[in-house]
Amino acid sequence: MGEPRGTHVPVLLERCLELLAPALELPGAVHVDFTLGLGGHAEAVLERYPDVVLIGLDRDTEALAHSRHRLAPYAGRAHLVHAVYDELPRVLDELGIPRIHSGLFDLGVSSLQLDEADRGFAYAQDAPLDMRMDQTTGITAEQVVNEYEPGELVRILRTYGEEKFATRVVSSIVRERQKGRITSTARLSELVKEAIPAAARRTGGNPSKRTFQALRIEVNGELATLESAVPAALDALAPKGRLVVMSYQSLEDRIVKRALTARTRSTGPVDLPVELPGTGPTLRLLTKGSEPPSDDEVAANPRAASVKLRAVERLDKNDQATGAARERPRLSTHGGRGRLRPGEREEGEGKA
Ligand SMILES: C[S@@+](CC[C@H](N)C(=O)[O-])C[C@H]1O[C@@H](n2cnc3c(N)ncnc32)[C@H](O)[C@@H]1O
Repeated sequence: MGEPRGTHVPVLLERCLELLAPALELPGAVHVDFTLGLGGHAEAVLERYPDVVLIGLDRDTEALAHSRHRLAPYAGRAHLVHAVYDELPRVLDELGIPRIHSGLFDLGVSSLQLDEADRGFAYAQDAPLDMRMDQTTGITAEQVVNEYEPGELVRILRTYGEEKFATRVVSSIVRERQKGRITSTARLSELVKEAIPAAARRTGGNPSKRTFQALRIEVNGELATLESAVPAALDALAPKGRLVVMSYQSLEDRIVKRALTARTRSTGPVDLPVELPGTGPTLRLLTKGSEPPSDDEVAANPRAASVKLRAVERLDKNDQATGAARERPRLSTHGGRGRLRPGEREEGEGKA
């Protein structure tokens, strides 16, 4: 099996490995690559950590086939599973593995999905309107475009694509639907282009980008699975275990940020001077906010341009007791904060 078209450079590889290193060095470490893709990150982990066991998940059977070939030298300690990433608890159960020590989410589409002519993810090349990451199941973009109610389509384009001209784009789609079914990415791109005012087309890149992103998110239920997958990953993380998440657009990053920061705060009563058992933070943030890529990284790998990286470590019981006691908010005297009170906004909340 050959390499997919286009060079595939794993995004922020060295930074990911640096952040995960202490977890990968734990005895009996199990690393989960939640978005195996072409196996670039996974291969580096297996190569550099000869004792680490890998669980690699992907919902795309073609990606799994490529990774199975690439990771064949490590087959004895690599479990590659066709699964949606929020199915981790079932996968662990089936493998008889109770805990994980390290995890990586590299969200979005792979270069394989973008480059394969028949997948329909890329607006730059003509293909059937599919966009399913798992081609064995689920609805296609063609069904969404041709069969959804106009109001529902507007909501999807606005919410998932942040498309300001959603109503105009959907009117153009609906007019075309009356003539016949829209079946190709090229036709959809033309309709979007015609619908966006010329002045707006001159800025902000390809006008189809937002519509294609919105359809892809809808077809694959991307945000809903991410909402459940991050907490499931954190629940499975052993003490001192680490998780790195790379997202490529603000909707994903917001979900990740909420899921991670929720566990860095106390859930006990605000006015108690000490932490109650079981109410302390269970996570420590390893990154300050979300980390952008360096200029060098973007120059070497244009796909990294929009990446936002966040990383956390699961506290062990001792850290939880001492760390929590240290971080208790003393609101009555200093107004210091370890967690938010009702109605308070987190720093940066609401910003992209
Ligand atoms: C950006 S690629 C990962 C690239 C990978 N890190 C590498 O080095 O080759 C993202 C992969 O995640 C997969 N994916 C996206 N959403 C998923 C989900 N909900 N469950 C499982 N896999 C998913 C896609 O099919 C794609 O292969």
